[in-house]
Amino acid sequence: MEQNKKVIFSGIQPSGNLTIGNYLGALKNWVKLQDEYDCYFCVVDLHAITVKQEPKNLRQRTLEVLAIYLASGIEPSKNTLFIQSHVHTHAEAAWLLNCFTYTGELSRMTQFKDKSRKYAETSVSAGLLNYPVLMAADILIYNADLVPVGQDQKQHLELTRDLAQRFNNLYSPTFKLPEPYIPETAAKVMDLQEPTKKMSKSSDNPNSYILIMDPPEVIRKKISRAVTDSLGIVKYNDEQPGVKNLISIISAITGLSVKEIEEKYEGKGYAEFKEDVAEIIINELEPIQKKVKELLDDKTYLQSVYKEGAQKALYVSNKMVRKMKKKIGFIPFEK
Ligand code: AMP
Ligand code: TRP
Repeated sequence: MEQNKKVIFSGIQPSGNLTIGNYLGALKNWVKLQDEYDCYFCVVDLHAITVKQEPKNLRQRTLEVLAIYLASGIEPSKNTLFIQSHVHTHAEAAWLLNCFTYTGELSRMTQFKDKSRKYAETSVSAGLLNYPVLMAADILIYNADLVPVGQDQKQHLELTRDLAQRFNNLYSPTFKLPEPYIPETAAKVMDLQEPTKKMSKSSDNPNSYILIMDPPEVIRKKISRAVTDSLGIVKYNDEQPGVKNLISIISAITGLSVKEIEEKYEGKGYAEFKEDVAEIIINELEPIQKKVKELLDDKTYLQSVYKEGAQKALYVSNKMVRKMKKKIGFIPFEK
């Protein structure tokens, strides 16, 4: 039965605390996919070390991201949930694919250019340059059909397809060419202080994002400080990016249409609107936060989830990596 289902792979880096952008743009949609697809949802810790990580924080965040996956409704019985560094085929396939990737392709990646600018003063690791190749490996070793990602990852997915095609042409058909998958309902959540920018967990200003684990009073404060405009009307348009963003957030959480939301706030000011936005977010996050805390208190359970996930992931991905090695010309360890 599972064989007929299309395969989905996606992952989130444990490189910061997850925001409602991660929740509304990724997790909430993953939950809807789990019945229809054979899903691999990974905590991509190998990706996180492309920039400096404190070991203690990395450990804590990795488990927290896994707990957030579970608390958001991603069920371990329906999906393969695992931690990337537990499955050695990712790093192995990344090396192989690195040798088919041109340095020019990597240095042209927009995210690399942005990030390397940001980290220029300290230093830019080779890992940061090579990171899209690891991402390609993540996807290709499961022969994923679809990859739910945000707009910013589309370029990396193009590279993944180029690499798959290159390998297929050089040897013989090996990989499927994965497609980006952006569910219609997936929201793009913008920065609360600079609403023309994507909300990001790596922003320096905590007022620009809402974390999944932010307590209610913090959420109220951050939403009340969210940048709006001087027009004073709750309308969804590009001239009012701050208001537009808050409307999108309500819509993504409640399922109400933009029109319904505009009508509800007709003639009302931003103060009342913002109070409602805050309460809607709090209501959505509270049960998740409670569940995350319970899960983090039950390390044995978390361990059982990631162990089982890693075993399955290793079994599936190892077949592909063996195939790659054989085609490249390595001597098989065993027949
Ligand atoms: P990142 O936090 O960049 O590792 O992203 C992990 C996942 O969350 C990706 O699928 C992103 O597209 C999604 N995501 C992150 N931030 C946002 C945002 N502000 N709006 C929508 N989706 C987001
Ligand atoms: N690069 C992605 C991000 O920063 C995370 C990621 C790593 C990923 N490997 C992946 C996403 C494979 C989808 C598929 O958001």
